[in-house]
Amino acid sequence: MQHEFIIAITGASGAIYSKKLFDSLIDSKTRIHLIFSKNGKKILKNELNLSCSYFEKEGVSIYDNSQLNSKISSGSFRHNGMIIIPASMGCIGRIASGVSEDLITRSADVALKEGFSLICVPRETPYNTIHLKNMLALSQAGAVILPASPGFYHKPKNLDDISDFIVDRVLVHLNIKQRILPTWEPNSC
Ligand SMILES: Cc1cc2nc3c(=O)[nH]c(=O)nc-3n(C[C@H](O)[C@H](O)[C@H](O)COP(=O)(O)O)c2cc1C
Repeated sequence: MQHEFIIAITGASGAIYSKKLFDSLIDSKTRIHLIFSKNGKKILKNELNLSCSYFEKEGVSIYDNSQLNSKISSGSFRHNGMIIIPASMGCIGRIASGVSEDLITRSADVALKEGFSLICVPRETPYNTIHLKNMLALSQAGAVILPASPGFYHKPKNLDDISDFIVDRVLVHLNIKQRILPTWEPNSC
């Protein structure tokens, strides 16, 4: 059966990660439900000069974040996981405190209550105590906190290589077989 994922793009820096994950999931022939926050859209434009029309592809449903009245905000909609990439601290804070006032926070809330995989890719530095407590709360509720902190042991040569590292980790957590990077081997250092 075809896999279905929800991708939420929020207003943290790191638009390259969301574009790359989207492209990889399209290549893997998965169905995608895509939600942008208002600042997520602005940062996509700012960092990659991309607008929402880039994401209008076969197998992709795009929702407005205010569209709470949509099928993905119900627990009766079964899917294979939700990824918030990049995840702003504001978004993480809202989910951690149970505020589900828009489609992104509601879908995340549903993912946690239904036991679907929820992967959050935060991008902020440094973290304050509130950020850390909110991420702990999400982790304790079952989410995977997968920070956008790339490793360098695959010897990246450019931005693409650096961002591959993070997106590959997300794909591993989604059990997508088509990977970007080879599995790390001890003798590769
Ligand atoms: C240019 C720009 C860059 C930002 N970068 C970050 C960031 O890296 N991490 C973060 O947590 N918030 C960042 N923010 C702040 C969030 O966009 C802001 O808190 C917003 O309210 C988050 O809402 P959203 O989750 O609905 O997108 C940035 C804002 C702007 C305008």
